[in-house]
Amino acid sequence: MSEERAQTRSGTLQEPQVRAMFDRIASVYDVMNSVMTAGLHHRWRRRAADLAAVDPGDEALDVATGTGDLAIELASRGVQVVASDFSEEMLARARVKQPSIEWEWANAQDLPYASDRFAAATVGFGARNFSDLPLGLSEMTRVVRPGGRVVILEITTPQKPPLSTFFSLWFDRIVPLIGRAAGDSQAYDYLPNSVKRFPEPPGLAASMARAGLTDIKWVLTAGGIIALHVGTKPVAPIVTSSNGSGPHPPSA
Ligand SMILES: C[S@@+](CC[C@H](N)C(=O)[O-])C[C@H]1O[C@@H](n2cnc3c(N)ncnc32)[C@H](O)[C@@H]1O
Repeated sequence: MSEERAQTRSGTLQEPQVRAMFDRIASVYDVMNSVMTAGLHHRWRRRAADLAAVDPGDEALDVATGTGDLAIELASRGVQVVASDFSEEMLARARVKQPSIEWEWANAQDLPYASDRFAAATVGFGARNFSDLPLGLSEMTRVVRPGGRVVILEITTPQKPPLSTFFSLWFDRIVPLIGRAAGDSQAYDYLPNSVKRFPEPPGLAASMARAGLTDIKWVLTAGGIIALHVGTKPVAPIVTSSNGSGPHPPSA
């Protein structure tokens, strides 16, 4: 078995392979999404945008934006959205859908944005593809302003029957068949394997905490197939002086 085939089976691909895979499937990505989720992905993106808790005029970043549906949902709420991805072919589809958003090439693991800039950073179905999840999470945390939120929308493995049985049948058998019909069996073999090796909700919450986020919560929806995580970047600690002069910012 080739090394790449073995990596596909284990759901772990290197960055250049992830990028090449999304470049290859960009033209069928939106159709496949709608087929595989029966159109429900729009509802999940609305919930992710709700969790970002951004107001009109706020600036938000959507990383690994792909064809841009989560960025477009945020923009529809009057938010100034910067949306980035490292697949030019995915970005090309996003630009056609919504020319007014700033679509930028960027690696989520090395974001070209200033620290503390955005009111929120979101990622939809992208964190699973990061070759270095802790790095991606710490970059999203870095670019969010204190008090701002990081939101992660991701597929997760349901633990209880009957959904766990349905999930295994759907992802292990049907999705690879649909992928073959769509002309890219490797990409849709990789999908179920990448879901299996991605941390379960408590593990992802722990990774978010290690990235520096607090007040981490998650909700499961679609019978436990979809997890939405949110965490908040803490505001700088306020130090209270011992001489009773009240709170003041920490000294340099
Ligand atoms: C499954 S698609 C999700 C696209 C979109 N966010 C959505 O909700 O449909 C995953 C996307 O993550 C992007 N991606 C994966 N790793 C990345 C990285 N390190 N930096 C930037 N984009 C990345 C891929 O190019 C692809 O467009």
